[in-house]
Amino acid sequence: MMDWTDRHCRYFLRLISRHARLYTEMITSPALMHGDVPRHLDFDPAEHPVALQLGGSDPAELAQAARLGERWGYDEINLNCGCPSERVQTGSFGACLMAEPALVADCVRAMCDAVAIPVTVKHRIGLDHEESYAFVADFVGTVAQAGCGVFIVHARNAVLKGLSPKENREIPPLRYDIVRRLKRDFPDLTIVLNGGLANWEAIERERAFVDGVMLGRAAYHDPYLLAEADCRIFGDCAPPRSRAEVISALREYATRRIAQGTALRSMVRHVLGLYHGVAGGRRFRQLLSDAGRLKDADASLLDDALQAVPPQRTVSS
Ligand SMILES: Cc1cc2nc3c(=O)[nH]c(=O)nc-3n(C[C@H](O)[C@H](O)[C@H](O)COP(=O)(O)O)c2cc1C
Repeated sequence: MMDWTDRHCRYFLRLISRHARLYTEMITSPALMHGDVPRHLDFDPAEHPVALQLGGSDPAELAQAARLGERWGYDEINLNCGCPSERVQTGSFGACLMAEPALVADCVRAMCDAVAIPVTVKHRIGLDHEESYAFVADFVGTVAQAGCGVFIVHARNAVLKGLSPKENREIPPLRYDIVRRLKRDFPDLTIVLNGGLANWEAIERERAFVDGVMLGRAAYHDPYLLAEADCRIFGDCAPPRSRAEVISALREYATRRIAQGTALRSMVRHVLGLYHGVAGGRRFRQLLSDAGRLKDADASLLDDALQAVPPQRTVSS
């Protein structure tokens, strides 16, 4: 997620779940061709498994970007066909590509030829007022033939004109039935459902119909939700870190990064929701978002924030 799942956020989330697959923000292929590649691609080895999400529509350029991603050590290359922002449309990538399945297939084929790691696609269920199942089924079928075996489906249409990106995540209705039908019609593909999942009850319900789920906003605003993922999804029931243990581990990371010139603020901004719904959570959030305290603070601000919350009895409390 743009501006959210940067490397610091992913490192933090990895402290909560050992197995959940993490995704970068979308990085456009032109940015990789002409920009500061290490700044865009560097990540900590602890982040694995981690997927690089690309935006673009030029097969040769995407192939080159995918190759860079593989060389950098990413586990998967994901192509964004779901972002509805106007800025993205002018560059001809994101959700508008759903209207051009043959072009997306060319992009996927070029990327698959360029790398040995999986190439996956994230997309919507339709565009604007196009609501027929045939539209998304044709898209998936065409792109699958080019070598994509994993489709992450945000279960909403993208409305390209008239809705902001934020509205595009809220207003078009969620249609989980469409994603379930894709799984029924393409049983050999891996179909991952995304959109609106905010608790384990909903996750478990939908997981019964598809191969996996992707969490966006819930994982950011209430990250400790992921603590249950290892046991529930991946069958690794070793206890997760408690919230306090997450903070201690993050403190070590923050100390290391501060020594390399990273501002504490850019790391702790992702941590504010760790005590979401827990006594002391507001105070924790306030301390870590207080501009006065953050200025010139070192990693010990995390100790102060931890002092603000009463000790938790169990990992799920
Ligand atoms: C701030 C923000 C940035 C996002 N950036 C991306 C992005 O770069 N690539 C992408 O595929 N989706 C992006 N999304 C969409 C989410 O990945 C997800 O599809 C959407 O929020 C619906 O899932 P959710 O209800 O679990 O949040 C973004 C969402 C938010 C809130």
